[in-house]
Amino acid sequence: MRAMVIDRYGKVPMRLAEMPTPEIGDYEVLAEIHAASINPVDFKIRDGKVKLLVKYKMPLILGNDFSGVVAKVGAKVTRFKVGDEIYARPRKSKIGTFAEYIAIHEDDIALKPKNLSFEEAASIPLVGLTSYQALTDILQLQKGQKILIQAGAGGVGTFAIQLAKLMGATVATTASEAGANLVKYLGANEIINYKTEKFEEILKNYDAVFDTLGGEILEKSFEVIKSGGKIVSVSGLPNARFGKEYGSGFFKTLLFSAASHKLTALEKKHNVQYTFLFMKPSGEQLRIIANFIETGKIKPVIDKVFTFNDAQKAMEYAESGRAKGKIILKIK
Ligand SMILES: NC(=O)c1ccc[n+]([C@@H]2O[C@H](COP(=O)([O-])OP(=O)(O)OC[C@H]3O[C@@H](n4cnc5c(N)ncnc54)[C@H](OP(=O)(O)O)[C@@H]3O)[C@@H](O)[C@H]2O)c1
Repeated sequence: MRAMVIDRYGKVPMRLAEMPTPEIGDYEVLAEIHAASINPVDFKIRDGKVKLLVKYKMPLILGNDFSGVVAKVGAKVTRFKVGDEIYARPRKSKIGTFAEYIAIHEDDIALKPKNLSFEEAASIPLVGLTSYQALTDILQLQKGQKILIQAGAGGVGTFAIQLAKLMGATVATTASEAGANLVKYLGANEIINYKTEKFEEILKNYDAVFDTLGGEILEKSFEVIKSGGKIVSVSGLPNARFGKEYGSGFFKTLLFSAASHKLTALEKKHNVQYTFLFMKPSGEQLRIIANFIETGKIKPVIDKVFTFNDAQKAMEYAESGRAKGKIILKIK
């Protein structure tokens, strides 16, 4: 099968390669991939930045979510049959959606929302699961609460704004002028132009922050939260709590604890709980998300669709950090 691979970590372009079509295990299906989306984690994996959390063998097929059709099922698969249209984020040990086929565990799959094209459906799994886990599992956002969602015009932000509105929250978000109309259309109640305004001086007494930017922006986010509030970040540093929950072992947990000491101090100073989220695959949560989409409560937001041969260009566009919504690879 055709696939986009890297041969070593580093800032090297992907190459189009002929790879063996994957064998499936008893609980796996072979999916024919119709479309995949590009996520920043793809170039972070390529650069070796995720090595501490997951190790991969080379050559490595990149790509972390997709939509497609079930082509074969393993002997013990019960929930899917050949011909089912599906969408998924494979588990981290078995990534590789920039390819014609993938072997994927049935627990990681859901039927694709019926009202979406394959390109639209491929835009959802990674950002949908990330937002769902951040807002429901970690923040446990309640109706009437106020949340700040950083980088509202990005892949994660465009989904998270819609989900937070669906949960009945009031949403503030940061965006440049280029993203302002989009986040307004998605339902943001307050839009901070991050190029000309300081969100930490404008927003006060928020119940929650969903941070997708990390660094100084995450640190300043503590200033907008009220005592007892919560911050979840997908781009900040993992802390000791994450290390323990993720089963990272003693030394990595110690490393996380040392690296995140500033965030731990901010947690204490503001009486706020900080959680680092490394999203998990979940077919079950994708079924819930499919229902939101089929009932028109959440819509996909696509910036641009690239052909498979242009996958490297699509990656470079994603790396520019300027996308409004999602970047898609049309594979079939
Ligand atoms: N830990 C996890 O499990 C996990 C899961 C998902 C994502 N993530 C991480 O989350 C981050 C965001 O992912 P994404 O897919 O949303 O990225 P993305 O789609 O590439 O984000 C691009 C958007 O970010 C906006 N932006 C850039 N700098 C900004 C700033 N200072 N303030 C406000 N907006 C800003 C840009 O708006 P303008 O062009 O208008 O500036 C653009 O619309 C990535 O680092 C990704 O790796 C982590």
